[in-house]
Parts: sequence; structure tokens; C-alpha cells
Amino acid sequence: MLAHKSDNRIVVGPSEPVEPEERGLNSYTLTVLFTAIMGGLVFGLDIGTTAVLSMDYFRTAMEIPIMQPGAEDSIDVTNQLSLFAVLFHVSSLVGAPFAGQISDKYGRKLVIIIAATLFLAGAVWQSCAGLISQDFAWASILLGRVVGGFGNGFILTIMPVYASELSPAKYRGQTVTFFQLSITAGIFIMALANNFLDEFVWGWRLAFVLQAFPCALILILTLVVLPESPRYLLLVDKEESARVALNKLAKGCPNQTAIVDAEVSAAMEEIQRIKSVEEGTFLDLFRGEGYAPFLCGFMVALSQNVTGVNWFMNYATTIFDSLGYNKFAMDLVLKSLNMVATIAAIFVVEKGGRKFLTVWGTLSVIVIFSLVALVIVATGVDVFSTTGDSQTSSVQLFTMIMIFIFQIVFAISWGPLGWIVPGEVFPMRLRGKGMAMCVVANMLTNIALGDYGFQALKVATSLQFTVFILVVMNVVIVLTTVVFLQPETKGVSLEDMRHVFAYERGGSEQRGTMSQFFKKNWIQTLRILSFRGNDPKTEILLMENENIVSSI
Ligand code: BGC
Repeated sequence: MLAHKSDNRIVVGPSEPVEPEERGLNSYTLTVLFTAIMGGLVFGLDIGTTAVLSMDYFRTAMEIPIMQPGAEDSIDVTNQLSLFAVLFHVSSLVGAPFAGQISDKYGRKLVIIIAATLFLAGAVWQSCAGLISQDFAWASILLGRVVGGFGNGFILTIMPVYASELSPAKYRGQTVTFFQLSITAGIFIMALANNFLDEFVWGWRLAFVLQAFPCALILILTLVVLPESPRYLLLVDKEESARVALNKLAKGCPNQTAIVDAEVSAAMEEIQRIKSVEEGTFLDLFRGEGYAPFLCGFMVALSQNVTGVNWFMNYATTIFDSLGYNKFAMDLVLKSLNMVATIAAIFVVEKGGRKFLTVWGTLSVIVIFSLVALVIVATGVDVFSTTGDSQTSSVQLFTMIMIFIFQIVFAISWGPLGWIVPGEVFPMRLRGKGMAMCVVANMLTNIALGDYGFQALKVATSLQFTVFILVVMNVVIVLTTVVFLQPETKGVSLEDMRHVFAYERGGSEQRGTMSQFFKKNWIQTLRILSFRGNDPKTEILLMENENIVSSI
């Protein structure tokens, strides 16, 4: 059958348009995506390793006072221990922009190799802390946190981008949801393992070794199997290599050649545009075509942790303990709900739509936390009291169930979408740098709110006041972001994304103004609230038919 190119579609015969996104999944693509998804596992395992801080053998090895039942750590010990998480997150924040720069200049694969190597080195180093000299045990842990954290910044920047670029468009949302699933699996595996490793002198060392395995696997698979991203290869004029990679990814699909041609020509169209302008810089995220996707990606990434999730990820044991429940058992329930609900997200993320999930997810979070604050205030009970009277017990149970429901809502909406949206919105020229800034945003709220803020607020005030502040922050930051800054991007190919974000400050011949962008997103929100879907892909096709887009 004759194939000819028309725009970024290939027409096979008179009436069979083959969209670039018709590539399916074969075993090679699955292996490639599996490797990218494993990046989430190492991040999740690390979130879980924070629990080693309460292990007696770890504390003894680090010469830190062991926790006494019913007693709190001293301020000095708390400050010392907080460095464990904070250094890791600060180092991730610093590492991300380097990853963005390298990935746009030297390719995605190199960044994955550096990421896995650094993470692996950090994990192995921490597991050996104090073996050579006891005097440097804690310093070794901190050094390991910095090195591993740098690798983590690289992993979080590159894996969602790589997965988005190599996944067939129709599975892109699901692929990145698997990335989030593997984060939750890492957190869960570590919660389980910690309970068991706690008993052994070398248990904490093994916890770090557990992180090293997926890192080593990523490294081996990257060196042996993974192709460079075909989009990056096309960008640096290596069309033949891009076609080789794409042919492997499309192997076994009907119309393989047409599909490869279509993907190449779709990417080339964007590359031609890119080549007429200079290489993208971080500054370009604040102007021209970079600004609207940057506002959207950055604020979505920042909002993910404003929801309050890491207060529960980091302090659930303390919160459940104060509420009078078995802290380890309930923490495990929370983390399994987080993982299982993310599986549900895999089925809804492509059907429901990105914005649909974040809008309804945010509204649900606001209702959940408002109810908790209202019930505590209305009943006037002290939720941390151990009196055991029936009203107090009911409010404690209610609060715990609401925390579980929050976790389910988060896992279906903000968990995956906090990574999917930043990974897909940027134009190719700014993708690495844009994603890096999103990781910076995510780490900022992780440190400010997850590592410190919410728990400090709870200790200084009360549970109900902290939950009330959560409501305010979810309304002011998170809801505003999803209503005005996030357009629906379901089903839109990476190349067509620029049509969804065809807005800039002041507007231009090619792009609308930012107020038009905010208004479009607001109207989409209204459609979502009245249960009418948004279909951006069809909107783009209609615009193309009316020759609107072709002039952009
Ligand atoms: C977030 C983490 C969070 C985890 C919980 C991730 O997507 O980035 O901050 O701890 O989800 O599942």
C-alpha cells in the first residue's frame, strides 16, 4: 500500500490515516519502560529508609541516644536526625538542574547512567558507614545522603521525561503512573522490611543495600539494552540511529514502517522549528513558548506536596501513635492503600483525563481535611487524649479513616499526576530544563512542608489547626493551580502539546495571551465540574481542519 506524508500523519491508501501514536507495546519497549519505571522504586525505597533513624542498632552505631518508650527525642537529636532527609532533598534539588542541562545537551541516556551510578554509590557508601572508622560513621551517612540525593535529583528529572518520550503516546499517562506505582511500592517494601530488619545488628546496613539492587539493575539495563531517546537523536541530526531505535520500539506492529515514518516526521516538524531559534536556556522558561508550560508544570509539581502527603509519609507513625493506634500496623495499612490505589489510577488516568483527576482530587482533599477540622472543633475532644471515652475514640477513629481516604484520593490523582504533567508539557527544546525546575519545585515543598513544616505546626499548635492550614493551602495554592494553570492534556502527543500551550505573556501573532490561557483553563474546569469531559486532541484536530493550527 502506498504511504505518503501529510503533516505529521502518514496516510496509507486514501482513507487510512495512521497517527504517530498507533505504536503498540512489544517486549523491547516494555523492557525500556520497565527500566525507567524502576527509577521510581529507588526514590520510594529511599523515602522508606528514613525509618532506620528509629532503629536501635543504627543509633548505637551512630552514637545517637536510643529512643525510650513513651519519650520524645531531645531537640538536639531531632535536629541531628532531620539532616538525614533534608540533605538528601537539598542535594536532589541542586542536582536536578544539572540533569536538565546535561540531558538537553548530551542526551537522556548519559543522565540515566550518572543518576544510577550516584544513587548506587550513595547507597553502598551509607551501608558501609563506620566500618573503617567509627569516628566518621555519622559523617559517612551524611556524605552518602548528599551523593545519593544528587543521583535522586537526576533520576526524578530524567525518568519521567525518558518514559514519556519512549512510551507510545496512548500509554504515556499509564507509563508514568507505573513510575508513581513503583515509588509507592518502594515506600511499602521499605515499611515491611524495616519491621523485620529492626531485629538485626546489620539490619540498617541491609536497608541501604536494598536500594542498591534496583540501581545496579537500572545501570546494567541502561548500558546493555536502552536506546537513546529517538527524539533526542533527531535533535542532534542522528536520524539513522533514531530510526533504528524506533524500529526496535515499533517491531511487530502492523504498518511498522509507516509508524516509524510518522513518529520521525512529527518530531522533525518540531525540530525544524527548534533549529530556527537558539538552544533553550533556563531563562526561556520564563518567556515566549516556555512560560505557559513552565507555569503549569512547576506549579503542579509544587502542589503535589502541598496536599499534605509527606506529613503522612514521614510522620504517620507518630500521628497514629498519638491517636492511640498501633503505629506500625496502621502505617503499613496507609502505605498499602497508597500502593493499591495507585494501581486503580493506571486504569483511570487515560480515560478520566489529567485535569479531571486533579480538579476532583483537590476538591476531595479540601472536603476531607475540612471535615476533620470541623468534627474535632465541633465535638471539642482532645484527639490525643488517652482517656478512651467513647466520643474521643469515635473522633480518633474518624480522623484515622479520613487520613486513609486522603491517601487513596492522593494515590489516584496527585500521586501520578504530579509526575505525568511536568513530564509531558514542555516543548522538546526545554524539556530537560523544564522538568529539572519541576523537580526543584517538588523538592522545595518536600523539604519545607514534608520534612519540617506540617509536623512542626502540629507540635506547636494542634492537629485541628494544622489540618485547617492544610485546607487553606490546598485552596490557595493547589486549587488555583489546577483551575487556572493546568489545561487538559489527555491523549495529546508530545509534539502537539505546543498547541495546547500556545499562549505567552502579552500574546503574539502565533500565541494567545496569558489571560486567554487562564480563561481557557477555567472554562475547562467548569466543564469538568458539570461532568462534561474535555477532549483536547479533537480540539487540535478541529483547529487543524480549520487551518488555524497550521499557521501557528
Ligand atoms: C511524591 C512523594 C510522596 C509519594 C507518596 C510521590 O509522587 O513525590 O513526595 O512521598 O509520592 O506516594
